[in-house]
Amino acid sequence: MFNLILFGPPGAGKGTQSEKLLAKYSLVHISTGDLLRAERNAGTELGNKANEFISRGELVPDEVVIGMVRNFMKERSDKAGFIFDGFPRTIPQAQALDQLLTEFNAQINCVLGLEVDEDELVKRLLLRGETSGRVDDQNEDTIRNRFQEYQNKTLPIQEHYSSQNKYHGVEGVGEIDDIFASLCSHIDKLI
Ligand code: C5P
Ligand code: MG
Repeated sequence: MFNLILFGPPGAGKGTQSEKLLAKYSLVHISTGDLLRAERNAGTELGNKANEFISRGELVPDEVVIGMVRNFMKERSDKAGFIFDGFPRTIPQAQALDQLLTEFNAQINCVLGLEVDEDELVKRLLLRGETSGRVDDQNEDTIRNRFQEYQNKTLPIQEHYSSQNKYHGVEGVGEIDDIFASLCSHIDKLI
């Protein structure tokens, strides 16, 4: 198995680059944000609970997200590997993922972090909010809240994987195809 975490703040381009990576590598995309929104749209109990957090720009509790990821992965244990997009978001999530992968005799092979400054991120998210229908993209206070959560809870994950020599930062501003080429150059060394 080859397992990649696409890391970076909201609006860094994780979803955009995931789509391009999926077209090139036979990996399974797991976007926890997309899964949570699908649960919410389906009106499930999990989705309704998650929506309270999402609409405030806060993180959904670890046990909820970890359970959802575990189910998703168990149903696809025959696959060549995963691209994790928007997960893990906290150190406990990263530890749970490391543990979960041992059950597949696998590990995280590479963590690629898209680096984009905050002013650019706010611009991108507000622009996306005009068409995405995502309430959490339309309000600057909610966006700032998401950055705060990222700073406090998600950024420490970088160190978790740096200390395992798995983290690589990639310039996330510029042409989409150039950013994609940088990501591929890291992956192709390992796959
Ligand atoms: O990953 P994405 O930006 O699509 O996530 C949107 C929202 O979903 C986050 O702001 C957060 O409220 C919630 N989320 C979460 N935990 C995750 C992924 C997403 O709480 N692992
Ligand atoms: Mg996304």
